[in-house]
Amino acid sequence: MPERLDAWLARAGFGSRRDAKALVKSGRVAMDGRTQSDPAASVTGKIVVDGEPVEAPPDGLWAILHKPVGYACSHDPAEAPLVDELLPDVFRRLGAEFAGRLDRDTSGLLVVTTDGALIQRLTHPKRHVTKRYRAEIEGVLARDTVARFQSGILLDGDDAPTLPAGIDIRGEGPTIEAVVRLREGRYHQVRRMVAACGGRVLRLHRDGIGAFDLPEDLAPGEWRHLDDEAIARLLKDAP
Ligand code: URA
Repeated sequence: MPERLDAWLARAGFGSRRDAKALVKSGRVAMDGRTQSDPAASVTGKIVVDGEPVEAPPDGLWAILHKPVGYACSHDPAEAPLVDELLPDVFRRLGAEFAGRLDRDTSGLLVVTTDGALIQRLTHPKRHVTKRYRAEIEGVLARDTVARFQSGILLDGDDAPTLPAGIDIRGEGPTIEAVVRLREGRYHQVRRMVAACGGRVLRLHRDGIGAFDLPEDLAPGEWRHLDDEAIARLLKDAP
């Protein structure tokens, strides 16, 4: 079914539906070479705004970013530098959001999408999608750390213990390497769980969600679109 011009323009990044309506009424929009001032007109041809052709907007946006340390997952300029600076402006215009934020000091796999259902499926604890983190830890971890991660830890300020989580401790030394698997995303969760067991996270990197691994050829600061197969892998262990 053909789409209304104002709705189409809003999806193409020209603000809200109301903004798009005003834009059309102002006579700045042409369709197939003729000024179109009716916001309810059906889109049936090439759209030009202020003399510039507008590309047909995608139905949605599904992407991943290799988030570098130092950038905030926020849209608030007061928290700059922001992850938004690493993504094309159209992502913001289309209303893309992060599916599970990472702290400023955490690097790794960040999903950015306009698909609210996907965000819900990736972030809702009941969906069980596992997020995998590599952590470098200093300090001496309690002997029962693995069991405590598994049974849940009541963190300061929280009402309920964490859901069962995994920690695989890979090496002892001046620093400890660990792989942590969580299915929720509470504030600073890995750092707080490690701290509750006597350690301090020095570096934290998310390298997998569900059955999807952060691609090795995606450098920090780079992003790419996700195809259907990649989305299926992200959701592989979601019920
Ligand atoms: N746990 C943290 O402590 N930080 C993150 O960014 C993600 C999980």
